[in-house]
Amino acid sequence: MTIADILASRAGELCGLAPCYVYDKARILREAGAMQKEFSGVGILYSVKANPHAPLLALLARAGLGADAASAHEVRLALEAGFAPGDIFYSAPGKTRRDLERTLGSCTIIADSLNEVRLLADVSCARGQTAAIGVRLAPDFGLQGAAGQPSKFGIALEDLGQLRDILEAAPQLRLSGLHLHLQSQMPHEQALRDYYARACRLFARACAFLNAPPGFLNFGSGISVAYNEQRDRRMPLEGLGEALRREAARRPELASARLLIESGRRLVCEAGTYLTPVVDIKRSCGKTFVIVQGGANGFLRPVFAALALEGNPSPRVQEPFFTAPGCFCFDVLAPDGRPRGGERVPVELVGNLCTACDTLGHDVLIPGEVAVGDLVAVSNAGSYARSLSALAFAGHEPPREVLL
Ligand SMILES: Cc1ncc(COP(=O)(O)O)c(C=O)c1O
Repeated sequence: MTIADILASRAGELCGLAPCYVYDKARILREAGAMQKEFSGVGILYSVKANPHAPLLALLARAGLGADAASAHEVRLALEAGFAPGDIFYSAPGKTRRDLERTLGSCTIIADSLNEVRLLADVSCARGQTAAIGVRLAPDFGLQGAAGQPSKFGIALEDLGQLRDILEAAPQLRLSGLHLHLQSQMPHEQALRDYYARACRLFARACAFLNAPPGFLNFGSGISVAYNEQRDRRMPLEGLGEALRREAARRPELASARLLIESGRRLVCEAGTYLTPVVDIKRSCGKTFVIVQGGANGFLRPVFAALALEGNPSPRVQEPFFTAPGCFCFDVLAPDGRPRGGERVPVELVGNLCTACDTLGHDVLIPGEVAVGDLVAVSNAGSYARSLSALAFAGHEPPREVLL
């Protein structure tokens, strides 16, 4: 069943719930299965920040994935959803002492700086506890031969000597693995293959320097989605798992490490649709405004795209806020789920917040039959959608979520 079938067969129920996010369970399981098949022998961590909806997390935990948590709260969500503590990896910059106290012992904490390693030493000492920790490294390279960039993430390679000293002075800490992430939504599979090769080289250097055989090596994310199927090619998974395993196997320093990758959007993005009712239609200075319930406070990413594109033919990629032009399709359904017809007309598709910035799209072509009470369906709403939106703005009721 496709998302269109789901919307058509359950329109009445969904109309009553909208604004809401509808997530297609079968599609998510298909994506997870395809990734597990290609990356057999490699653990797949679901990036909770992409979509932390509890039933969706539980679905992925039952499917055998681990969790990539970006806050102490996400660690708790992952535990509640049924992920085992050994399969939860907590990686984020700027963790506080309280974050570490809340999560130590219930996941693998990946330290993002030297100060954080010191703080972890302190917290585990105060608790009389030993802790196996990971460390995120800052890559000294960019995408496809580009130079490394200054970054707030990870520990720079020139600081590995200090890291070794801190770890030597803290016997309560054991370095159990390394983490690297260069970029989400890589442009094509060759870029990801090259990245795996360079990451393995860097991991091997770091392990030799730190004299620490890695328990795990986490290669981060990078598998992309095709936001616009007419224009973009979907990154094929074939050969990626093999490339990762082969590169790791070439280096004796990395033998026997648990290999991990992270993925958010590829698992859930295309499985999600945002459904929001048309609440008003009006004309102003020659333009038609279609007003829906919940724009920036329901699905912020199309609003960012509209802002990024205003008078700017090629805005810079700003993940996860802005990926590319034309990332979202807007369809209109009658309240009974039938797609609306009629010649397509350009409209200003706007939300009902008190700001002109609350625009989902300028000159969006939608069926001319559109009427108040219809539902606008926005594609690619499974990742960085609800979790990235201004839900509290103006005090509207936040959109609901349904996993079907
Ligand atoms: C460290 C890290 N891991 C994983 C992800 C998930 O990326 P994606 O949703 O593109 O798979 C991100 C996204 O920003 C990230 O920063």
